[in-house]
Order: sequence, then structure tokens, then C-alpha cells
Amino acid sequence: MQENPTHQHDPQESEPPARPHEFWDGFYRERTQVWSGNPNALLVREVEGLNPGTALELGCGEGADAVWLAKKGWEVTGMDISAVALERAAAHARDAGVDNLVTLLEADLAEWSATDPGTCPGYDLVCAQYLHSPTELPRNAILLRAVAAVAPRGRLLVVGHQDFPPWGRHPAPDPALPTAGELAEELGLVAAGWIIETAEAIPRTVQGPEGQEAVVHDNVLLAQRGA
Ligand SMILES: C[S@@+](CC[C@H](N)C(=O)[O-])C[C@H]1O[C@@H](n2cnc3c(N)ncnc32)[C@H](O)[C@@H]1O
Repeated sequence: MQENPTHQHDPQESEPPARPHEFWDGFYRERTQVWSGNPNALLVREVEGLNPGTALELGCGEGADAVWLAKKGWEVTGMDISAVALERAAAHARDAGVDNLVTLLEADLAEWSATDPGTCPGYDLVCAQYLHSPTELPRNAILLRAVAAVAPRGRLLVVGHQDFPPWGRHPAPDPALPTAGELAEELGLVAAGWIIETAEAIPRTVQGPEGQEAVVHDNVLLAQRGA
């Protein structure tokens, strides 16, 4: 989640209305660009060396990660609940000349299934970067469906918050912030014979509204399904 320097606050700071798509459309409408436009560093770190194929990104926001993947040769389907974010993602893909490789779908992932039209079972990469929400988000149920959407020998990448700075609020009502290892267990990856390639908490220094600094951690889980 690379923030635009002009973006002064996190989604957690606003009081969420009941409906997730209204919250997220409102969140994105507050600024012409919320995120930096650069890909998430941990996506780049984990995926750079992989052979491109088909990729499904859950919660793609303004599309910086989808565009980066497409530039690397991946054929990407990006899903998000916010039509406002997806319009920006489409424009970003067009400007980057990769719109032929990027398909964008508006969907509430709480209701998504890997067999829905527009998505297909068998992606070489299914990824979710900072799929957190202050509105209702059944993250583990969504990630279990993500697991089901990974092709044999394909990979699942989940990058997320492990903790927040003292001035940030927990993204209630999603209390589940498992470590990468715990997430691998919860998703049944080890039991199902997946290879856990990365399960780490990576420290990152963040700056608060008054210039104060704190170290927070992002967790990253990269796992490969067996043949
Ligand atoms: C914290 S942002 C992260 C965006 C992007 N992945 C990034 O790293 O910059 C969370 C994203 O998840 C999306 N989202 C939240 N709840 C969702 C849901 N139920 N279905 C689909 N997308 C959702 C939001 O619209 C938002 O774009």
C-alpha cells in the first residue's frame, strides 16, 4: 500500500457507513489519486523472478500492482468493490499501454466465488495486497476461495498489515491479523502439501501526522500449490 504523499490519512480513520462499496467509493472520491501509483514493494520482491502467466488480484484499488504485473508480462484480472478505483485502474493501464493485458471486474469479494463469470479456476498467481477494510470483510473466507482459484503449481501471495502505528486504528470490524505462518495454517496450505516459499513479517518505518515515526510490520505469505 504505497501512499500518495498528499494522502494524509488511512481508511480506518473515517467512520464506515454500512455498505462497503459506498464506503470505498467515498474513500476514493476524497482525492483524485489515493495511492502513489507505484507497485507495492513486497509484490515486486516476491513476484519479480517468477515466470509470467495468468494472475488474479483481489482488491486491486487504483491498479498500480495490476499494471506492474502486466508490464512484466502477466495477464491480469483485477477485482475491487469500488467502481471509482477501477476507473482509475483502467486509466492507469491505458496510460501504461497494458490495457490489453488487464481485465478489471467490479465485485464484492464477500460474495465472489472462483467459478463466477469473468474469473476462472486455475490462475498461475492469485494475490491480495493489503486486502483490509474498516467495513465488513470476511477476509479468511475470501482467501480460502483465493486458494481454490490457484492452478496446480501456481502461487498464492498475501501481503497484509501485521500491526499498526500507535496513531492508527485497528481496521475493525476485521480483527483477524494473523502472522503469515498462522495464515498458511488457517488456509490449510501446509496440510494440503503446498510449499511455503515466504512467511515473514517485514518491518517498515512510517511517519505520523505530526512527523513522529514508528516501526510497523507487514506480513507476506507466498506459497506454491503442488502439481
Ligand atoms: C487498503 S486498500 C488496498 C488497495 C491495493 N491493493 C493497494 O495495496 O494499494 C483495500 C482495497 O480493497 C478493496 N475492497 C475492500 N473491501 C472489498 C470487498 N468486499 N470486495 C472487493 N474489494 C474490496 C477496496 O476498495 C480497496 O481498493
